[in-house]
Amino acid sequence: MSVPFSAASRFYEAVYEQKPYLMEARAVDTLIRESAPAASTILDVGCGTGRHAAHLAAMGYRLHGIDMSEAMVAVAAQKSGSTGNPSFSVANALDFRFPGQFDVVMALFHVASYLKDVGELTRFAANARASLRDGGLLLFDFWYGPAVLCQGASARKRTLSLEDARIVRRAEPVHRPSDRAVVVNYTFEIDEADGTRHIAREVHRMRYFDLQEVGTALASAGMTLVKAFSFPDGSPVSEGTWGAAVLARKGPEPDPRT
Ligand SMILES: C[S@@+](CC[C@H](N)C(=O)[O-])C[C@H]1O[C@@H](n2cnc3c(N)ncnc32)[C@H](O)[C@@H]1O
Repeated sequence: MSVPFSAASRFYEAVYEQKPYLMEARAVDTLIRESAPAASTILDVGCGTGRHAAHLAAMGYRLHGIDMSEAMVAVAAQKSGSTGNPSFSVANALDFRFPGQFDVVMALFHVASYLKDVGELTRFAANARASLRDGGLLLFDFWYGPAVLCQGASARKRTLSLEDARIVRRAEPVHRPSDRAVVVNYTFEIDEADGTRHIAREVHRMRYFDLQEVGTALASAGMTLVKAFSFPDGSPVSEGTWGAAVLARKGPEPDPRT
């Protein structure tokens, strides 16, 4: 059983070919202009193959992307070449430190739901706070609990044709209500162009959060909630919102006694 994205990094961009990264990057730009118009530097946590980062760099921001998956960072770095913007490195959302270096920290496309619980979400938000300049912004999205409970996660099958392989990707979710998580078991049947076939498996544990939990994590980390909304369209969060997002601003140092 391999770790998330060790196998999938090879065809991640083919799976999400239709995802509107440019539109999402524009939505990020709009949020930044509204709430921190002088911002120019962004840390992209869980950057994956760096597609938001590339669009935001093209818009004039300076980007650094981190991801715990060496395989994803390798794809991102290879794509960005020697431009230096965006740049990428391997780091975990639970451990990163860039003291006061960024105007914005973002984590998009459900990176936060790879965190185990409210404690880990708080650690991530505290690391983000430490990496932000005064007045800096934190933006992240997550599986929204009421939507997951209302809609339920369903099994899916996709067939992908790459230049060098044909891949059948199956996603089989198992709801674990006591953990407030959905464990998604992925199976990839890979038929290589040279005729060989192999099977890879990944387990992605997705923790869903409600707004109260996210608010608790932000407050404990010294971040002040600005707004919660559906990402990227900005509409109010509802049971129809699988991916909810929050925007928060660096607040006063939290009191360790509370
Ligand atoms: C669904 S992908 C999203 C990637 C990218 N943000 C995008 O929009 O395409 C989730 C990413 O989060 C990364 N990730 C999950 N848990 C992480 C953690 N604790 N620290 C850093 N990266 C993490 C995974 O390796 C993966 O690249």
